[in-house]
Amino acid sequence: MAGKFKTSYICQSCGYETLRWSGRCPECGNWNTLIEEVIEKKAEKQRSRVLSAKNIETYRLSEINSQKETRTETLIKEFDRVLGGGIVDGSVILVGGDPGIGKSTLMLQIANNLKDKKVLYVSGEESPFQIKMRSERLGYKPDNFEILAEIAVDVIDATVDNINPDLIVIDSIQTLYTPDLDSSPGTISQLRECTSFLTKVAKSKNIPVFIVGHITKDGSIAGPKVLEHMVDVVIQFEGERTHNYRILRSIKNRFGSTNEIGIFEMTENGLKEVANPSEVFLAQRNYGASGCVISSSIEGTRPILIEVQGLVTSSNYGVPQRTSMGFDYKRLNIIIAVLEKKLGLYLNKYDIFLNIAGGIRIDEPAIDLAASMSLYSSFKDIPIDSETVVLGEVGLAGEIRTISNIEKRINEADKLGFKKIIIPKNNQKSITTSKYKIKIVPVEKIKQAVEILV
Ligand code: TYD
Ligand code: MG
Repeated sequence: MAGKFKTSYICQSCGYETLRWSGRCPECGNWNTLIEEVIEKKAEKQRSRVLSAKNIETYRLSEINSQKETRTETLIKEFDRVLGGGIVDGSVILVGGDPGIGKSTLMLQIANNLKDKKVLYVSGEESPFQIKMRSERLGYKPDNFEILAEIAVDVIDATVDNINPDLIVIDSIQTLYTPDLDSSPGTISQLRECTSFLTKVAKSKNIPVFIVGHITKDGSIAGPKVLEHMVDVVIQFEGERTHNYRILRSIKNRFGSTNEIGIFEMTENGLKEVANPSEVFLAQRNYGASGCVISSSIEGTRPILIEVQGLVTSSNYGVPQRTSMGFDYKRLNIIIAVLEKKLGLYLNKYDIFLNIAGGIRIDEPAIDLAASMSLYSSFKDIPIDSETVVLGEVGLAGEIRTISNIEKRINEADKLGFKKIIIPKNNQKSITTSKYKIKIVPVEKIKQAVEILV
């Protein structure tokens, strides 16, 4: 590009900036992600403005009036919970997820619920006609909906001034552009500029803005990742395409707790809330099959019972396969190593598959013991009692380590009528009541767990 512009190479995956092109990003290690983008010249003016401002004010916490933020409830309970109790005025909410996972549908559904609010729906992806078709298919007739098929931020700004909406939805940030920059829509510099622009609109006019952003599984066009620090709330849409369940997870929330999740079922009439997640994830559970173990995970503030499925089969090819779905791959390898060292289970000639049923992803170590037991059970082809719940983190020495929220988990298992629950020994002292019908069995070592279960 001509010398008039200042350009940089920006990694489209992690946002790393460099003056020289190379095939591989030195920061995140991805290939072919560095793209030349025009960078706006920093205004010299800005510096002089700050230097000339003599009376810059600072505040003491005690001098600031505390005020509760005003929230609008969307009437989708699961969604409100993820937000921490509804949409906060003037907040910017990034909704990320794979293409086709249901982001636009959710936005439409929220707009449909907020009947007395004027919603400006900026669609750079679908034509107004397509949006109409979709809304008819889902059975919505929102009348509070102003659709703007425009992708330039200055036009969006002017429209906001014109129609004064109560809520703005941007679908999606990857399609927007600001004419101030020369790079094309979807590049990191455009994403950043447009997001900061929208943030200004939200804050100055006190209008909440939903920004939809696509994220691919491998994070290669992860653009939205670099936007996370610019917005107030980041919500991620998760779920396997082949499954009907969708999980909304809040990864960042300036107005509430993070790691809260909402669970939805996809139907032809849109997303339906799932009030009893444990029952859903156990709906198709296997009774008396080897390799299947029930465990409990805390998602947000709620315990969810899940089925961990392990399969160990002899390997026909040179290097045995290790596959995990919904469970951390590195932890699977640790568990395999512990099974080998502490239980003498030699698995190097076996393919190993581990799956969390129902398409949910669990990142908690509390289900380690259940995962270990499912592999053990599958290897020996001996089923584990389906009325037993197994909890505990597995340490490298084969010890069963303490987990969080033990009572919530026991309570949920008890409520659903399970007969026995295996817990880490060190957790026993934090149990305060003896009201449970379920039999609580503490264990210290992985070996002990095997003796009890198999
Ligand atoms: P869509 O909202 O377009 O996904 P995204 O905006 O994340 O790319 O949803 C994808 C498709 O799934 C679309 O054809 C509508 C359909 N769908 C349903 O039929 N029911 C539902 O509950 C959801 C969420 C989606
Ligand atoms: Mg969409």
